[in-house]
Order: sequence, then structure tokens, then C-alpha cells
Amino acid sequence: MFPRTRMRRLRSSEAVRALVRETELAVTDLIYPVFVTAGEGVKQPVEAMPGVYRFSVDLLLQHLEEIVALGIPAVIVFGVPQHKDAAATRAYDPEGEVQLAVRAIKEAYPDLLVITDVCLCAYTLDGHCGVTRDGIVLNDETLELLAKTAVSHARAGADMVAPSDMMDGRVGYIRDALDDRGYGHVGILSYAAKYASAFYGPFREAAGSAPRYGDRRAYQMNPANAREAMREIELDIAEGADIVMVKPALAYLDVIRRARETFNVPVAAYNVSGEYALVKAAAERGWVDERAIVLEMLTAIKRAGADMILTYFAPAVARWLREG
Ligand code: PBG
Repeated sequence: MFPRTRMRRLRSSEAVRALVRETELAVTDLIYPVFVTAGEGVKQPVEAMPGVYRFSVDLLLQHLEEIVALGIPAVIVFGVPQHKDAAATRAYDPEGEVQLAVRAIKEAYPDLLVITDVCLCAYTLDGHCGVTRDGIVLNDETLELLAKTAVSHARAGADMVAPSDMMDGRVGYIRDALDDRGYGHVGILSYAAKYASAFYGPFREAAGSAPRYGDRRAYQMNPANAREAMREIELDIAEGADIVMVKPALAYLDVIRRARETFNVPVAAYNVSGEYALVKAAAERGWVDERAIVLEMLTAIKRAGADMILTYFAPAVARWLREG
């Protein structure tokens, strides 16, 4: 009790604060999302995400030189396809945007971990994450296409695939497809607890993947539910997920914490496009200190229990951590 107990003693200098610090954000926690499109010499800014671009493979490779130099260990690749159709054929085209990019990245930077997003929403005409009939996303019919997509990414050299579609049974289906074709070494980072969130708005501009009608609430989770997230994660682990993800991150820190306490697999958190855009917009106006607020947010995501964070801030954070 006060005055014998004084909490401020352990806050009184930088040295003692460093000693008692409980959570450390490191560059090795970061996964950097990148958007790749067709062509050459392409670097298109994403309007709602200042500092984020859609790159053609040549300029993406150039950009990744800095990412590797900063010590960021992993990227997750999203395709912005030239061609969409009802069967999402471009998603599993061996010469598709993602497949070409993965091949080129692994050749140029063999030690950079390459993860691919596996979903159909950027490839279907109606922008849903699976094939549809009469406006309904068909679960089991979609699994085959997701598996083909994942296998094509593995064939291109992906180290890990990340299904983000939220179809039931897709992790097991993809695991079997990979194993049957000799890709047992390719991991699965599952978007296990992915919520139907308004925080994905800017991403959908970047990937051109907004649904043309309706929304994703018939497959992504209700933001009101946390127990259900534990069921989703449990199922994905049983089906073979190596890492499970909670997405978005900041409004779901309780879900991250519960996942960390309930399961013994690594937990990833996705600091999504809307979380990025909010900070960027406020920082541009001088209303918040970008560096301080980003480091605080990402530290909080780790404190909640995330082992790794997918974030568009990865290069900036790597620079800030280096500066100390
Ligand atoms: C594809 C996908 C989305 C995101 C990652 N993979 C969008 C969505 O589900 O609509 C969102 C990422 C972000 O907002 O940063 N299904």
C-alpha cells in the first residue's frame, strides 16, 4: 500500500522501463501485404491507402529489395487480375498475376517467406469469394477451385497459402490437395476467424474485389460473435491449419486474446486496410502522430496475444524500430 508501494518507481527512467517491458514489437513479427498486377512498369497508387501501390512484377521486385533489406521476413501476395469470369479461372492460371509474381520473388529473394492469399473474390464477375448460383455462394463447388488455386500457388513456389474465403471445410480440402500433389511442405495460414467487416473497404478498392451485389455476411463472421470464432479456429486446426488468423485486429483484440489462451498454434492478426486508412487520414491532417499511434496499435495487438501481424505499415515500422 501507498506510500510503501509506488508504481512510478518502475517507470522513472528509460532503463528501468526497458527492463520491465512486457511486450516487444520486432521486425520479425511482420508480414507485409503486396498487390501485384499484370504488365510492366506499373505502380498504381491505391487512393484510400496512401503509400500502398499495385505493382507489376518488375517494380514489385524492385520494391521488395528494400523490404528484404529492412529485415521483414514475409510477404503476403494479392493478385489484381486482368481477367475475371464466373469460374474465376485466372485464380489458378499458372501464368496468372500471383503465380508469376511468386516465381519471380522466390527466384530473386529465396529467403523471403512468400505467402499467397487464396480466395476468388478478385477473380469472379460478381466479386464474391466463391462461385455463385442465383446469388448464393456455393460452398462445396467452391472448394475445388480454392484447392486448384492453392496448388497453383504451391507449384509457383509459395511457402505458405492463406485461404481467406471462409468456405466450410476449405482448410482440410486444401491440405489434402497439397499433400496429394507432393506439396506437404507448404504451410496453411488460415484466415480462421474472419469477420464481415467494414474495415475491408480500402482493400476492395485496391484489389477490385468488392461484391457487385449483397455482402459477405453469409460466409464471413458476425462481428458480434466471439465464441463462434473459437469454433472456427478449432475446426481449422483440426483440418490442418499451421497458423490461425484473427481479422481485423484492433476491434477484435478480445478474440486474439481468447485464441491465444485457448489454442497452442501460432496466432496471426491482420491489421487491415481500414485500420491503415484511418490512421493515414488522421495523420495527414496532423491530428495524430503516425509513428506513435502505429507503434502503440501494433504493440497492443501483440500484447493481446498475436505472434505475428500482417500490416501495410510493415516498412515504416521496420524503419522506426531500426531508428530506435
Ligand atoms: C479476400 C480478402 C479480403 C481481405 C483479405 N483477403 C477482403 C474481403 O474479404 O472482402 C481484406 C484485407 C484488408 O482489408 O486489408 N477475401
